[in-house]
Amino acid sequence: AVERTLSIIKPDAVAKNIIGQIYSRFEQAGLKIIAARMAYLSRREAETFYAVHRGRPFFNDLVEFMTSGPVMVQVLEGENAISKNRELMGATDPKKAEKGTIRADFAESIDANAVHGSDAAETAAVEIACFFPALDVYSR
Ligand code: CMP
Repeated sequence: AVERTLSIIKPDAVAKNIIGQIYSRFEQAGLKIIAARMAYLSRREAETFYAVHRGRPFFNDLVEFMTSGPVMVQVLEGENAISKNRELMGATDPKKAEKGTIRADFAESIDANAVHGSDAAETAAVEIACFFPALDVYSR
């Protein structure tokens, strides 16, 4: 089915100037960018976005990192977009990510892991709404 997923290019990858290289991977995999904006998240925004991880030992480092510089946020649309994007990203820990994935090629650590992608349809809907009002999403 045609799905939508929320993708974030994290501060490490924005700082490395590889937004275009990552966008190319989305496009070559048949994922269409139907909304996009750059954002410099406040602590509050990062905490809200990652609320499901509140209480995990890595939560504070995660929020610190995600507020350390601008991020590029986009909605990707396409056939099986959620799992397709997760395949393109590779495992959360770049050391475990398969060769040729975004994280294997560009990420340094489990915190500075270049990209975020929604993990399921329900979270995708919530995450998209977090960043984009419906009228800013341009499907076809
Ligand atoms: P992301 O997909 O953005 O979702 C939560 C982030 O927490 C994850 O990517 C990692 O960058 C970060 N993180 C740090 N440590 C862990 C961990 N042990 N398990 C999962 N995520 C972690």
